[in-house]
Amino acid sequence: MYPSVRPRRLRRNAALRRLVSETEVRPRHLVLPMFVREGATEPVEIPSMPGVLHHTRDSLRAAAVDAVAAGVGGLMLFGVPSERDATGSAAADPDGILNVALRDVAAEVGDDTVLMADTCLDEFTDHGHCGVLDDQGNVDNDRTLRLYGEMALAQAEAGAHVLGPSGMMDGQIGAIRETLDAAGFHDTSLLAYSAKYSSAFYGPFRDAVDSQLSGDRKTYQQDPANGREAAREVGQDIAEGADMVVIKPAMSYTDVVRQTAEISEVPVAAYQVSGEYSMIEAAVERGWLDRRRTVLETLTSLRRSGADIVLTYWAARAARWLREES
Ligand code: PBG
Repeated sequence: MYPSVRPRRLRRNAALRRLVSETEVRPRHLVLPMFVREGATEPVEIPSMPGVLHHTRDSLRAAAVDAVAAGVGGLMLFGVPSERDATGSAAADPDGILNVALRDVAAEVGDDTVLMADTCLDEFTDHGHCGVLDDQGNVDNDRTLRLYGEMALAQAEAGAHVLGPSGMMDGQIGAIRETLDAAGFHDTSLLAYSAKYSSAFYGPFRDAVDSQLSGDRKTYQQDPANGREAAREVGQDIAEGADMVVIKPAMSYTDVVRQTAEISEVPVAAYQVSGEYSMIEAAVERGWLDRRRTVLETLTSLRRSGADIVLTYWAARAARWLREES
């Protein structure tokens, strides 16, 4: 007559709900991506990412200190150079903006956090692709690998603990691992972008880094329709020496996060990308969503899906909310 099985019994008050809650997000799970712009004299808000700044070297240092004080697990640095060329040569230049900024931040908070660097050429090339082009204008996989090796060395030398090769070239993990090992950087970790999809959700980021790209990245980033090749690349990247893997974007790919969590032998991260950030911020701005509840719900969902780590532009703010709650 009446249900004897009543799941609502465990929801009746906050104490019971707290007791049976399965998933936790802690500040240490969150990594903050940050942008530093060469030649900037003051920090400037990125129009398509309200609340996210293009930093000067000084404001980056201060924001890094602030994020570490909030308890985030790590920082992921992106650089926006003032000059670009066909091979993205500023990427491997020790005086290039990203390498200089890594040294700045390493000196400030290097022992208190995990310092990560984006290892990709797209911000540094004048055509905006993630690698160098051949005569036909196609991205040349193997020549690009050599440049990734040089970029990786410069980043490791500058003090990055973790490198994030995000360009989706075949063999990038093995090539970078070999270059690092040959130079004695055995302890520099690789966060492999094993599944990085060719996604519309990168739109605001491309504004942020002033992307020079015309066309798309469909010949190297994965097709959003596919899950199987993500599993294949996770296996390959781990075999090539990946220390962690990341799925990107996050919210439209939680099935891939779950699948990866089930097969991966290394920690799994999910990258909540610029479009995921900006669409929620835009709705918050209109009064349609509550920022704190919405953001914490997305982070909880990603952890529930199997992500050990979440890269998110809300990392420092979310870390503070989480500390208030506990
Ligand atoms: C490319 C790169 C991308 C992002 C970071 N590095 C994607 C792309 O432009 O294809 C996206 C980050 C975001 O949207 O938050 N190396």
